[in-house]
Amino acid sequence: MAITPKMSLLIKNCRLSIKNKLYVKNILIRNGKISKITSKEPKADEIIDAKDNFVMPGLIDCHVHFREPGLTHKEDFLTGSMAAAKGGVTTVLDMPNTLPPTTTIEALEEKRKLAAKSIVNYGFNFGATTDNLSDLKKAKNIAAVKLYMDSTTGELKVDDYETIAEIFKISKITIIHAEDISVKTAIDIFVSNKIKNKLHVAHVSSEKELEYAKQNKIKKQVTAEVTPHHLFMNEKDLQSLGAFAEMKPRLKTEHDQKALWKGVHDGTVDLIATDHAPHLKEEKEKANYPFGVPGVETMLPLLLDAYNNKKIDLSTIMKLCCENPAEIFRIKNKGILKEGYDADLVIVDLEKRQAVRNQDLLTKCRWSPFEGKILKGWPITTIVNGNVVYDDGKINDVKARELKF
Ligand code: DOR
Ligand code: ZN
Repeated sequence: MAITPKMSLLIKNCRLSIKNKLYVKNILIRNGKISKITSKEPKADEIIDAKDNFVMPGLIDCHVHFREPGLTHKEDFLTGSMAAAKGGVTTVLDMPNTLPPTTTIEALEEKRKLAAKSIVNYGFNFGATTDNLSDLKKAKNIAAVKLYMDSTTGELKVDDYETIAEIFKISKITIIHAEDISVKTAIDIFVSNKIKNKLHVAHVSSEKELEYAKQNKIKKQVTAEVTPHHLFMNEKDLQSLGAFAEMKPRLKTEHDQKALWKGVHDGTVDLIATDHAPHLKEEKEKANYPFGVPGVETMLPLLLDAYNNKKIDLSTIMKLCCENPAEIFRIKNKGILKEGYDADLVIVDLEKRQAVRNQDLLTKCRWSPFEGKILKGWPITTIVNGNVVYDDGKINDVKARELKF
């Protein structure tokens, strides 16, 4: 059902957690925004009954590779966003290692046009290179600047410390892909140059990396991200999955995995993001397979299953997947359910038990490292800007918007 902006939508019987207390309320949506959260039953053009299911803010995934332009055999903004919607993710920030890479103003503007087919809201991370500082300064309406300090898919590595310091100075937020000791190097450069901007450490994968990040979490200036694959898998999974569990950074030991979970609970980890990095099965089966795994569709089910196993509570999921990403990436009017905020939300069935099945996936690559895993807790309806874009297995192709920073 597409709710046009003038229409109103009432979602009845929503189980909500507001400031850590549970309520059953009705949510009235008007003009794509949450107009009322109420115990009354206001009139509306359309009504959805959430049947006492838990309703949470749509997830904000600040780290996806939707592969457009140039790599659309793996994913594109439509398929990636469909997978996101199915996974309860209502906003994504796309990464720059496309073809061409998003490292010039022209490439950014081209990507902007291509992304218009997305059914979830989107923003762009601009890529830093050794020689694009003038483009970095000019780039309009970007979420952050992505800096690769270690090699990965694409050719975007920057090694020169002075250039790195310059990039930190220019960019309001720099997201670094750094592994192991490079995390320390990045933070040392950041601190010694007395940078006033922010540094976000992508996909922290080990106890050591988390320690480096933790020591320098100065005034919320340095933030740390973990991925669902590093939380829900470890190096032992490589034995059965091989290339299908190979990503950068690589899966670590069970001890590291535990340290990441501890970070989730003690606040050292600021957010969870998928690093959704789809590659085709055929590509993964080759000897020189590419690194990366898809994840945007399975993050929320994995976390809800962890909730059902008493490993995490719902308020922590909402903090790390909705509230904190909105705050860190200064995404306005999103990340919490509040009157006046955007109507980006997801109805989840905490009791639904279902296996992850490749054939059900909407990502173009159509496989998951979690295939076969039975999870309890699934998104059932996803609403973006007041439009139902996913409901009970079906996608409704209503276009979303670019974020405004
Ligand atoms: O495993 C990865 N795959 N890590 C990255 O940093 C990039 C990504 C990709 O684009 O495939
Ligand atoms: Zn990535």
